[in-house]
Amino acid sequence: MHSLPWKTMVMTVALLQVCFSGEVESSLSLSDKITELPGQPQVSFQQFSGYVNVDKKKQRALFYYFAEAEIDPASKPLVLWLNGGPGCSSLGVGAFSENGPFRPSGEILVRNEYSWNREANMLYLETPIGVGFSFTTDSSSYKAVDDKITGMDNLVFLQHWFVKFPQYINRDLFITGESYAGHYVPQLAELMIQFNKKEKLFNVKGIALGNPVLEFSTDFNSRAEFFWSHGLISDSTYRMFTSGCNYSRYVSEYYRGSVSSVCSIVMSQVNKETSRFVDKYDVTLDVCMSSVLSQSIVLNPKQVTERIDVCVEDETVNYLNRRDVQKALHARLVGVNRWAVCSNILDYELLNLEIPTISIVGSLVKAGFPVLVYSGDQDSVIPLTGSRTLVHGLAKGLGLNTTVPYRVWFEGKQVGGWTQVYGNILSFATIRGASHEAPFSQPERSLRLFKAFLEGRSLPEMF
Ligand SMILES: *[C@@H]1O[C@H](CO)[C@@H](O)[C@H](O)[C@H]1NC(C)=O
Ligand SMILES: *[C@@H]1O[C@H](CO)[C@@H](O)[C@H](O)[C@H]1NC(C)=O
Repeated sequence: MHSLPWKTMVMTVALLQVCFSGEVESSLSLSDKITELPGQPQVSFQQFSGYVNVDKKKQRALFYYFAEAEIDPASKPLVLWLNGGPGCSSLGVGAFSENGPFRPSGEILVRNEYSWNREANMLYLETPIGVGFSFTTDSSSYKAVDDKITGMDNLVFLQHWFVKFPQYINRDLFITGESYAGHYVPQLAELMIQFNKKEKLFNVKGIALGNPVLEFSTDFNSRAEFFWSHGLISDSTYRMFTSGCNYSRYVSEYYRGSVSSVCSIVMSQVNKETSRFVDKYDVTLDVCMSSVLSQSIVLNPKQVTERIDVCVEDETVNYLNRRDVQKALHARLVGVNRWAVCSNILDYELLNLEIPTISIVGSLVKAGFPVLVYSGDQDSVIPLTGSRTLVHGLAKGLGLNTTVPYRVWFEGKQVGGWTQVYGNILSFATIRGASHEAPFSQPERSLRLFKAFLEGRSLPEMF
């Protein structure tokens, strides 16, 4: 186990706070305070970013960005957001393209009107090591990083982060994320609950998962029907893609370096018909032309479950690679020349994809923790149908009856999506017209969903 200097450090902080009586903030967080991000509009909330060591000896350090709630942060919950990949950045994808307060646009940052820090104190973590600005000085640690290592690092990160921000220790804590975070989030919640048995530190109130990988075969095999029903593949190709070689079999063979000839034939037909000019993460959104070439990297092993609109990505890549921006963020580049959306140095144990996490979700629900699984309904990578099947199956297995029958929900005067709730604790919702990165393509609907989730309320039934 890791050595935990947490208790002593909290006491030190407490002492310091006595000296600075009246100071609400911990002095340790002050050096992480962001004075101003280059090009940002004036805002009323505070921002922090910097490093938290998760293993002093090896100099493994995880980078975070923290945007306090816009209004009355002391009354609002703490929300951790994690992007997937594995190996993609919660800073670049989550904060600067999806649900953070700003989006880069040329030289400046524009305000995201539907930022989740309207409702919560938002903490974005670049994890595991090797992602974004997170690093280790022992480069052999980038090898064979897996779900276990990531989960422990995330746990230690939060313990140590609380030393910097002791005012958040007892705050309601929600853990949220997307895509491969369907592994990270339940695994981290489980570790926290175990940790709490020794020492109550994490006031976990629920988890939310967007287009998550929860069970490899159900999630990946719902792709064929999604392609077919959206007209991306023909009837005959659909038949081949279900009975000749299904997608889970292909991916499984691919990551073992032994693609069979039948799978190779089926996949090349599927790829030919779907075309690289359609973004698999949003089958209806036009791709911007600058992104078209990059579409060919979709089958790169590191890219199987996570990619974002490349137009936004380009802006983010440019912005986060500016020296003045890195300085303002207290970020450093260690072992890499540039900040990248998805890590080029991390060597993740990709077969971990096949570990089911739906059972962990089940144990969380059973222990009384609310869970929301939501789906951007235009995503073909982790389609809504697979997630819906998994949530329904889980409810059935746990003996949870439907408390909100399948129905539409509203944002403004339009249908925001569909929802179903089981036992008042396990919820499923779609976000209409949303991509894999739902808060990017449907920010207003996503914020509505997020607010209902935090408040523990069902989604608006009327307008
Ligand atoms: C996918 O293919 C594998 C291997 O052929 C098979 O075992 C599995 O049942 C198939 N799954 C679906 C959903 O068709
Ligand atoms: C679920 O519904 C069934 C049938 O109406 C009922 O017998 C059962 O007690 C319900 N379970 C719960 C947990 O409410």
